[in-house]
Amino acid sequence: MPAAKGALTRRSFIAGAALAPALWGARGRAEEAVPVSQRFARTPPPVTAPDQLLDVMEFEPLARTALPPAHWGYLATGVDGDLTVARNMDAFLHYQIRARRFVDLTHLDTARTVLGVRWPSPVYLSAVSSQRAFHPEGELAVARAARERATQLMLSTGSSFAVEAVTQARGAPVWQQLYATDDFTVTEALVRRAEKAGATAIVLTVDAKEVRRNNETLRRAMLADNRTCTACHVDNTHDMWRGRAMFQGLDTSRVTALSPPALTTQFLDRLRETVKGRLMVKGIVTGEDAALALAHGVDGLVVSNHGGRNEETLRASIDCVPEVVAAVKGKVPVFVDGGIRRGADIFKALALGATAVGIGRPQAWGLAAFGQPGVERVLDLYNTELAAIMRQAGTPTLADITPAHVLRA
Ligand SMILES: Cc1cc2nc3c(=O)[nH]c(=O)nc-3n(C[C@H](O)[C@H](O)[C@H](O)COP(=O)(O)O)c2cc1C
Repeated sequence: MPAAKGALTRRSFIAGAALAPALWGARGRAEEAVPVSQRFARTPPPVTAPDQLLDVMEFEPLARTALPPAHWGYLATGVDGDLTVARNMDAFLHYQIRARRFVDLTHLDTARTVLGVRWPSPVYLSAVSSQRAFHPEGELAVARAARERATQLMLSTGSSFAVEAVTQARGAPVWQQLYATDDFTVTEALVRRAEKAGATAIVLTVDAKEVRRNNETLRRAMLADNRTCTACHVDNTHDMWRGRAMFQGLDTSRVTALSPPALTTQFLDRLRETVKGRLMVKGIVTGEDAALALAHGVDGLVVSNHGGRNEETLRASIDCVPEVVAAVKGKVPVFVDGGIRRGADIFKALALGATAVGIGRPQAWGLAAFGQPGVERVLDLYNTELAAIMRQAGTPTLADITPAHVLRA
């Protein structure tokens, strides 16, 4: 996104940090006229291992280099001008942390019990489809990383590998994200399959309405890719989903879309009756819809705009958290995803009332760059940074993080 003059964006921040030493150097004494950045400069070693990376965002260019243009485009794309993708990240810059002193920080604990399971940190891996496009081991490598870091995995309906194999690689039940399709027989079969594999929640995505979204970045990237896409994909719509692992063995001949055209509360009721365990919805961005979903029996909500991939609302998902939290009144957990790139972002989301946060693209950057160890490093960076800001802000446990710890500038 072209940043408005003077506007604070994540990228301008980084560029500014790189420029600063040169400016300081130029202001120094005559013998120090050589910019500081050059006097002390060393060529950084080539990146060969994930632990050389110090920031989740550093995985992005590595993934871009590792991937063919069209697969990169699929991962990066938003819709229209990708402005909501950028907003999701930049919005965190407007929240400031109010750090408190005089707190006993002898024991710092980032753990939280979520839906009856103790998580070492309030981070889960959100649904990202077709991960074999990023690495041959796809979701299996992500699941192994999740197992190593005891992290909850939400598996996409469009996963390259089926829920049974991914659950085995994870060594614990997944949450199954659900694209219900427009054929309820298929909906029911997907739910039963996930339940049989032990999924502890079905997560209905409610923000995927368009069969052909205006994903310009993907389409431009496809033009730059000289491989023949149809060698692997029938086409670039839901047809490529019907061939996916979760749909195998199902009669998908009547499926024309990922979601029913009337995804109303009546549909939610029908699904509620079908799902035996927990039902959550993903893609809520207003208090009104949160209240409706709650009234129709959901067990959890995910505040999400799909990482800016489905709609160009210009509304960052973090900005939607307060009204959803207010509507839910603590009755069910509220999760949020979109643009979370730092431990401090997690802290801010929790301070605004989120139970935990989901990570989308960064897991795929780690995967594309290094496979399983890359995903592990991405998770470690989030968790290390979260622990650091918890200590600095005077919040030894997640329960200590309150709305009083955050301020919207
Ligand atoms: C390549 C890709 C595929 C995705 N596939 C799905 C999906 O199948 N189902 C779903 O509900 N969300 C899907 N998402 C959205 C993520 O679950 C999540 O909402 C979003 O990526 C969070 O934003 P972030 O990428 O900025 O972290 C996908 C996101 C990406 C980047």
